[in-house]
Amino acid sequence: MQKSAAVDQPVHEFIRERWSPRAFSEKAVPAEALRSIFEAARWAPSSSNEQPWAFVVATKDDQQAFAKLLSTLVEANQIWAKHAPVLAIAISELAFARTGQPNRNAFYDTGSAVAHLSMEATARGLFVHQMAGFDPKKAVELFSIPSGWEPIAAFAIGYPGDPESLPQPLRDRELATRTRKPMAEFVMSGSWGQAASFLRK
Ligand SMILES: Cc1cc2nc3c(=O)[nH]c(=O)nc-3n(C[C@H](O)[C@H](O)[C@H](O)COP(=O)(O)O)c2cc1C
Repeated sequence: MQKSAAVDQPVHEFIRERWSPRAFSEKAVPAEALRSIFEAARWAPSSSNEQPWAFVVATKDDQQAFAKLLSTLVEANQIWAKHAPVLAIAISELAFARTGQPNRNAFYDTGSAVAHLSMEATARGLFVHQMAGFDPKKAVELFSIPSGWEPIAAFAIGYPGDPESLPQPLRDRELATRTRKPMAEFVMSGSWGQAASFLRK
């Protein structure tokens, strides 16, 4: 299923075609594609090139690891995410490795790395669905995540599936129109609340 963004301005097809499905096909993601997806994360920019991200990844062929990662998700996410072939958790290092000073951009950089991997996934016909609905404490315990590192978000990776396979109300949400705020609400210049002049045609 396609859910192309109804864009107001032309954008690259990878931006237009990316979306967050809940219906995933059971088709496995080749290891080669996974390597490229995480290579894309590797090349994300970061403050001081700190690269303050790490990923715990579970593929369905490793049933134990998959079940462990799935168990960190809230029930509402488990319902659909259990069908995805790959689950992962994005984790941030909270302090600069060199100085030990807090890195206030660690979450920002980790999000940027996930945005990068999402684009690589889209380019390969794959989709990424990120989830705040998971238990970070449980993830720390189950995966022995060291102190100084914080699980930020979970995500599923896979090929799109049949929306009809979803229970209600998820099926309706899968088919619902994607919406966004207008750019004039968040692209400003001169002063807060003043839409940037280049937005006017
Ligand atoms: C950090 C983050 C957390 C999210 N958490 C959840 C979640 O727990 N469960 C879920 O079904 N979707 C979750 N989403 C998906 C958003 O609902 C989705 O990205 C948003 O509605 C826009 O839809 P689109 O990605 O299809 O454009 C999350 C997305 C992000 C980026």
